[in-house]
Amino acid sequence: MSLFEKCKGFYSDPAVAQKYGYPVNPRTAQAMGLYPYFIPLDQTEGTEVTIEGKKLIMIGSNNYLGLTTHPKVKEAAIEAIRKYGTSCTGSRFLNGTLHLHIELENRLAEFVDMKKALVFSTGFQTNLGSISALVGSEDVVITDREVHASIIDGVRMSRGQRAFFKHNDMDDLERILKKYPREKGKLIIVDGVFSMGGDIAPLPELVALSKKYSAQLMVDDAHSFGVLGGGRGTAFHFNCSKDVDLVMGTFSKSFASIGGFIAGSEEVVDWIRHFARPLIFSASLPAPNVATVLAVIDVIEKEPEHVERINRIGERIRKELKAMGYNIGNSQTPIVPIIIGDMMKTMQAWKTLFEEGIYTNVAIPPAVPADTCLLRTSYMATHTDGQLDKVLQTFKRIRQVLC
Ligand SMILES: Cc1ncc(COP(=O)(O)O)c(C=O)c1O
Repeated sequence: MSLFEKCKGFYSDPAVAQKYGYPVNPRTAQAMGLYPYFIPLDQTEGTEVTIEGKKLIMIGSNNYLGLTTHPKVKEAAIEAIRKYGTSCTGSRFLNGTLHLHIELENRLAEFVDMKKALVFSTGFQTNLGSISALVGSEDVVITDREVHASIIDGVRMSRGQRAFFKHNDMDDLERILKKYPREKGKLIIVDGVFSMGGDIAPLPELVALSKKYSAQLMVDDAHSFGVLGGGRGTAFHFNCSKDVDLVMGTFSKSFASIGGFIAGSEEVVDWIRHFARPLIFSASLPAPNVATVLAVIDVIEKEPEHVERINRIGERIRKELKAMGYNIGNSQTPIVPIIIGDMMKTMQAWKTLFEEGIYTNVAIPPAVPADTCLLRTSYMATHTDGQLDKVLQTFKRIRQVLC
C-alpha cells in the first residue's frame, strides 16, 4: 500500500482503520455520534463548556486548580503581551531568551527545591529534549510501563538501551536493575501521578532502589503540580525532594499555560541546555505563557485553598463513585478513571454522558492497554458543589447503562 493509500483507506476501508487501532473509521464513528475527538468548543469558562449552543459540565480537563480564569493570572498574561508582544520569534539559544524566562527558571528551581531549572516550549519537548540529551547509546533507560508517550519518544530519540518494568512494581524494577553493571549509566523514569490511572508512583521505594543500584531518578510531575505536596509535586508529598535527581513538569495543567521545564543540578541542567535539540531548534515560550506560570506560582503560594479544595474534591469523587460500584482502579488523586474495558462500550458510555450534559475523555489504545479502555474523569478546584452533585447524581442514575 502506498504512503497516501493508507490515508484514504483509513476513511473508507474498515480493515485499514482496524489495523491502525480504530474499531470503526472516524467518519463512520462521527455519523454514529461516537467520535470523541477534536470537538470544537464554542466557549469555555473552565468548569463549563458550550458546544453547539449546549452547556456541559467539563470533567475532562487538566486545569486542576482552575486558574486559567483567575483574575491575577489573566492580568499577568495580558500585561506581558503589552510589554513584550505575542511571541519571541526565535529559539532560547539565540534571540528568544527574555529576562522573564530566567526569572521563571529561578522561581521554578526554588519551587521544586532544585539548583537549576530550564524552560521549554511544551512539556512534550521537555521530555524529548532532556532524555535524548542526557542518555547516550551506552546508557540504559528504565521506565514504568505506563509513563507518558513523550517519555517513550524521548527514550527512542536517545538511542539508549530501553527496559520497562510492570506498573508501580518495585520487584520487577529491581529484577531489571540487577542485570546491569554498577558503572553503567542508568536512568529510571516514572510519572509522579499517572495520567490515566490517577495513581501515585512509590517514590520512597524508587529512591531506595536508585541509590542501591547507582541509578539516577527522574520524575515527570505533569499531573502532580498543584495537587500533591501542597502543590509542589510528588517529592514534597513524600518528603524526599533531596533524593530525586530530575523533576520534570508541564505548564499545560495546573500552571494554566503551555510549556514545560526540567529541574536538577546545575551541571546537568546546563548540559541539557546545550544538547537538547527540541530546545535549541524551536522557538521559545511566548512571554504571556511565561508570565502566567509566574502568576500561578504566586497564587499557589499565597492562596493554599485551591490545592486544599482540589484534594477534597478528589476524595469525595473517589469515595462516591466507588460506593456506586464503579471500577476506579487505584486512583489516589483528582484523576478518577472509570474502567470499562471494551472499546466500543467505552465510546458508548462517553456518548451517553455527553447527552446527559457531561464532557469527559475517552482513553483507548495506545493511551491504555486494549482491555482496560476507560473514561478519564478529572476535576477542578473551581467546580462548584452544585456541579459536582449533578455529576454524581448522573453517574448514579445511569450506572447500569454505563457499565
Ligand atoms: C505525564 C505527562 N508528561 C508530559 C506531557 C506533555 O505535556 P504538554 O501537553 O505540555 O506537551 C503530558 C501531557 O499530557 C503528560 O500527561
